[in-house]
Amino acid sequence: MAYNFTYYVPTKVYFGRKEERNTGRYIREYGAKNVMLVYGGNSAKRSGLLDLIRQSLRDENIVFSELGGVVSNPRLDKVYEGIRLGKKNGTDFLLAVGGGSSIDTAKAIAYGLAEPEKDVWELYEHTRTAQKCLPVASVLTIAAAGSETSKGSVITDEKTGSKRAYDDNLARPVFTIMNPEYTMTLPDYQTESGCVDIMMHTMERYFTNGGNMEITDALAEGLLKTVMKNAVILHTDPQNYNARAEVMWAGSLAHNDLTGCGNDGGDFMSHKLEHEMSGMFDVTHGAGLAAIWPSWARYVKSNCLERFVRYAKNVMGISVKGTDDEIAEAGIKAMEDFYHQIGMPANLAELGIDPPDEQIKEMASRCMAACEGRTGSAKVLTENDMIRIYTDAK
Ligand code: NZQ
Ligand code: ZN
Repeated sequence: MAYNFTYYVPTKVYFGRKEERNTGRYIREYGAKNVMLVYGGNSAKRSGLLDLIRQSLRDENIVFSELGGVVSNPRLDKVYEGIRLGKKNGTDFLLAVGGGSSIDTAKAIAYGLAEPEKDVWELYEHTRTAQKCLPVASVLTIAAAGSETSKGSVITDEKTGSKRAYDDNLARPVFTIMNPEYTMTLPDYQTESGCVDIMMHTMERYFTNGGNMEITDALAEGLLKTVMKNAVILHTDPQNYNARAEVMWAGSLAHNDLTGCGNDGGDFMSHKLEHEMSGMFDVTHGAGLAAIWPSWARYVKSNCLERFVRYAKNVMGISVKGTDDEIAEAGIKAMEDFYHQIGMPANLAELGIDPPDEQIKEMASRCMAACEGRTGSAKVLTENDMIRIYTDAK
C-alpha cells in the first residue's frame, strides 16, 4: 500500500559539459550581491574549475569571497569560520564547489548567517529548528552524497567526534551544476565509495516494513543496477564520460526522495551506524557503509525477508532455488562480492579499523542518542542490537 507523501525537489539542475562556465549568469538570476565560494583542498584548484568559476563571477560583476580548506567529514570550526567571514562581508549567497563536505558546510553557514544571533550547532543537536536559510547552490565535483539536491547536511564537532545530521527543506540548493568531466580526476577509492553511498541512499529506502509502490521499487531497482554496472566500468576506465554521467545523475536521484515515495521514510540505520564510525575514525563515508551493510543486512533480514528476497532476485540477479532465507543470504553475499570487485571493504577489518569493545559500546550509545527514538524500519534496533551489528562487522 502506498503511504501519503510530499515530493519537494526545487533544485534546478544544469547537467553536462561546459555548464560550469555559466555559473555567474545562473547566480545572477537569484539577485545575489555577495557570494561566498566554499571549497575543499586542492582538487578544484588543480582541475582549473575554481579559476573558471571566479572568472564567470567577475564577468557578471558579482562580488565574492572565498572559504577553502573544507575537509571530508566536515568540521564545525570551519562552519564557524565561514559564519564570521560571511558576517564581515555581508554574504547573501553560498556557492559550494566540490562534494558533500563542501555543500554541507555551505548549508550550515547559510543557516548560521540567516539567524546570526543563534548557535548553528543547536540545529545539529536538534534542540531547535531553522526558521531561515540563505540560498545555497553548488558546482558538483564528486557523485556521492547527493547533497546537491537533498535537504540534509552532516557536520562533525571535532572536539567531541560527534557527527550529526540536520534535515530541512530550507537548505535544498537552488541550483546545481553537474559536469561529469570534473569527476574524472577522482581517485578510484573516492569514485567507488561514492557509488556505494549512492546505492545505499536508495537501499535505505528500499528495505522497509512500511508502505511501498511498484513505481518506486522499479525506479530503485533500475537505479541500483545502473550504478553497479557503471561502478564496475569506472574501476578500470575512469575516463569513461557516459559512465561518469550515469553515476552522477544517479547520485542526485538516489537521495532526492524519488526512490522513497510511498514508503515509511526508510530505514537509514546503516547510515546512522556509519556516521558514528566516520565521526570517531574519520573513514570515508561510502567505504564505511560498505563495511557495515553486510553485518546489518544479516542481522535484520529475517524481519524484512520479503524485501531481501525481492532485492536478491531483481537487483542481484539471484536465480538459485532455495528457501527465502537462502535466497536473501545469496543476495547479501553477492553484494559483498560486488564490493570486493570494485575495491571496497565488506567489513571493519577491510576498512582498516579494529574498534575494541569499549569503542563499540561508545558508538552504539552515541548512535542511539542521535536516532532520537527512530531506530530503523527493516528492524527497529535497540542499543544492544547496534553493538551486535558493529561486533559482527569486525
Ligand atoms: O577537498 P578536495 O581536494 O576537493 O578533495 C576531495 C575529498 O578529499 C575529493 N574530491 C572531490 N572532488 C574531486 C576530488 N578529488 C579529485 N577530483 C575531484 N573531482 O574527494 C574527497 C571527498 O570529498 P567529499 O566532499 O568529502 O565527498 P562526499 O561527496 O562523499 O561527501 C561526504 C560527506 O557527505 C556526508 C558524509 O557523511 C560526509 O561527511 N553526507 C551528506 C549527505 C547529505 N548532505 O545529504 C548524505 C550522505 O549520506 C552523507 O552522510
Ligand atoms: Zn550517505
